[in-house]
Parts: sequence; structure tokens; C-alpha cells
Amino acid sequence: MRHPDTRSLRETMKGHMPQDDEGRLTDQQEQLPMPPVQVVRGNGETLSLPEREVTPFSALLENRCSRRSYDGSSLTLEELASLLWAAQGIRGFRKDGATLRTAPSAGARHPLELYAFVNAVEGLEPGLYHYLALENKLEPLGSCPNQADCLTGALCGQVFAGRAPVCLVWTAVPYRTEWRYDDKTRKYALLDAGHSCENVYLACEELKLGCCAIAAYDQMCLDELLGLPFGPSDAKEVEFAVYACAVGRPK
Ligand SMILES: Cc1cc2nc3c(=O)[nH]c(=O)nc-3n(C[C@H](O)[C@H](O)[C@H](O)COP(=O)(O)O)c2cc1C
Repeated sequence: MRHPDTRSLRETMKGHMPQDDEGRLTDQQEQLPMPPVQVVRGNGETLSLPEREVTPFSALLENRCSRRSYDGSSLTLEELASLLWAAQGIRGFRKDGATLRTAPSAGARHPLELYAFVNAVEGLEPGLYHYLALENKLEPLGSCPNQADCLTGALCGQVFAGRAPVCLVWTAVPYRTEWRYDDKTRKYALLDAGHSCENVYLACEELKLGCCAIAAYDQMCLDELLGLPFGPSDAKEVEFAVYACAVGRPK
């Protein structure tokens, strides 16, 4: 039987509860001291680790960072294809038909869908596209006249992201994970999104592209731009934005 309050559990995945006090200050805003960046659990004894080997992969990790300045050039379609595949590409199937992808997912439930707001990709009209992972294809979903401005607004005024050549957006279809895990879905689906976005960071590093994860967005505006119905719902087909990532060629 489904959780009696699926609707509220899903609302917490959006980063707020309806009764939250929007005006409350964070401890940082109240100028309380920053917490320590690490805890120490032992009695002071430490063991040194061996020097790590420098490999192509370790160099990707070493150089990975969030990049918010782009040089204004378009991405190629091949670059976009590589990023989409890195984020959600299918590499196999389980016996029950569940997909196995480039990123891990709790129980292989893969509750995420991936969209691309395209401003500048060679060979693609600006507009919104949805990645069909099963076919490794894009489906065009149309465009609005001021897409870059609308997207900037939906991303809380983050101009670099709204105007980036591509802004990827992950949505969650929570029921795919709730079907097996019920109320654990809030945790699992958001962890899945983190793995997928990290794949994009590492793919960008290899392709000499720059990207920046985005979690500051207006839920209603972004869902509306994606053409998704907004608001609390326990419907099985419900889908809403959970994460985004701007991509461009770094300056
Ligand atoms: C969950 C998450 C949300 C983030 N949201 C934003 C955002 O909305 N805007 C932004 O400019 N950067 C955002 N970032 C990027 C972080 O600010 C960045 O990762 C952090 O400053 C550390 O820098 P680095 O990625 O270069 O190591 C986000 C990162 C994560 C992991």
C-alpha cells in the first residue's frame, strides 16, 4: 500500500514544505560562525596514505570545478550527445526490464528524466528538448520566444545559466522509485540526481567544456517552462524538476 501522505513526501523533495516560514533567516545570514569543515573522531593518532597515482581519470577529478563563464560559442551536437549519454545513457537491461545506465540508481529504478534547454547548439533550433534514453534520441518540445530570459527568471536570476548554450534539467518521476521504496524515495531520487550531474561534470572536463550545477530555481516557474503541471499531487505520473546544470565552452 502506498504511503498515506505521498503528496507531502513529494513536496519535501522540492526543498520545502508548504508551511515553511519563507522569511526565516539562515544562521549564515544571522552571522553565526561557520561550522568546522571536518570532524575528528579518534584520539589524535593518524596514518599516512600513499601518494596517489596521477592518471587521466585523477586529472579529471583534480581539474573539475564549477565554471560559470562561457565564451559565447555554440556546442556541437556531438558534445551535447556525449553529455546526455554521460548523464542518463543506457548501458544495459536487467531481466525484469529495468534499465542500467551510466549513473547508478537505487534499485535501478532510474526515476529521472533529462531535458535540455538549448540556446546554442549547432544543428538544433533553440528550444526545449527531452532526452529519450531508451532510443538515445532527442524529442523537440517547442520553444518560447524569450527562452533565455524565461529560463534566467526560473533559475532565480542566474543569467550565466539562463543564457548558457545548454542548460540541462533533471526531473523526477517519484513513483518509479516509490513503487519499490515508498517513503525512502525522497532520499534515493535526489542522490540519483547527484550521481548523474557528477557524470556531466566529468564528461565536461574531458570534453573541455565548463558546467555548473544549479539547485537554486523557482519550482513553479521551472516546472511551467518544462510544460509540467505544478502543485502537490499523489498521481503516479507526477513529474517535477529537481536539479539543473548549465553548460558552455569556458572562456
Ligand atoms: C546541489 C548543488 C547545488 C548548486 N547550486 C548552484 C546554483 O544554484 N548556482 C551556482 O552558481 N552554483 C551552484 N552550485 C555549484 C556550487 O556552488 C559549487 O559546486 C561549489 O561552490 C564548489 O565549487 P566547485 O564545484 O568548483 O568545486 C551547486 C552545487 C551543488 C552540488
